[in-house]
Amino acid sequence: MTTPPFAPAAFPFARPRRLRASPWVRRLVAETTLTPADLIWPLIVHDGAEDRAPVASMPGVFRLSPRAAAQAAKEARDLGIPAVALFPNVDPATKDAIGTGATDPDGLIPDCIRAIKDAAPEVGVICDVALDCYTDHGHDGVIENGRIANDASLERLAEQAFIQAHAGADVVAPSDMMDGRVQAIREALEANGLQDTLILSYAAKYASAFYGPYRDAVGSAAMLTGDKKTYQMDFANSDEALREVAMDIAEGADAVMVKPGLPYLDIVRRVSETFKVPTFAYQVSGEYAMMQASIANGWLDQDRAILETLTAFKRAGCAGVLTYFAPQAARLLGA
Ligand code: PBG
Repeated sequence: MTTPPFAPAAFPFARPRRLRASPWVRRLVAETTLTPADLIWPLIVHDGAEDRAPVASMPGVFRLSPRAAAQAAKEARDLGIPAVALFPNVDPATKDAIGTGATDPDGLIPDCIRAIKDAAPEVGVICDVALDCYTDHGHDGVIENGRIANDASLERLAEQAFIQAHAGADVVAPSDMMDGRVQAIREALEANGLQDTLILSYAAKYASAFYGPYRDAVGSAAMLTGDKKTYQMDFANSDEALREVAMDIAEGADAVMVKPGLPYLDIVRRVSETFKVPTFAYQVSGEYAMMQASIANGWLDQDRAILETLTAFKRAGCAGVLTYFAPQAARLLGA
């Protein structure tokens, strides 16, 4: 009998099931690990009277007062979640054409930043830079002659980012998709001694149906006229995402984001492999709502679905994931 110099990678010499036969070996050869340190917890905050008001389209998510947001930040700290991301729901009566509320140094977001930094200073605070939560038309920029005016929007966005950073935000995260906004924000930060503030740019943000529940949560749905297709990306495109990311890095972004999440893991893979900068993805409100609806019906196992989807983000190349499931996931991971 002759023995081959090495086992050919064919059955019966190769039996891939050997590496799956017991929990210990599966753990030993796992290529991807998920830990609470991979999670960013998005918090919807509001200026309403209630400490916690449920969001109908997002079971388990609440609009939080600044006090409750500070409490949530402490929870994040205790669970080992490194950062929270803030999204505002403000009184519709305060909304106007230019989103004045976005640049109020005593507005809801600065209040929340200060409350969180008081309660849990070790938790990173990420703020969304966009006007949609503050405008009476629900768009992320300002409108001139019936169009979203790019360069006029940049001024508002840079000021908004400055206000957030000045109030103590660690990271400003432009989600508006105007051209040149990262540069405008980086220049404003540099000019004001805030060069250490991180910019996490929503570099590849698609015009998506999956933002529906979020727009309900922050109250921008009722306001929105038309769609966001002149600034958010067409979901048919992938090369375009690489061009967007390249520009944002050149303009001064420290990290980039792909959004939505699961349907866009091909984009995550291309971006993380091409640029080697920390790449994040957002498991957005519609993905969360879709999973929660199935879980509520008993069609999906909650714990397994959470861990599988979040691990898939890591496997695709993400440094971390924004997810409304962050606290549940951290608990499952044994925090
Ligand atoms: C707004 C913004 C959106 C989300 C985060 N920032 C929605 C939009 O662009 O309309 C979506 C988050 C989610 O769906 O969970 N600039």
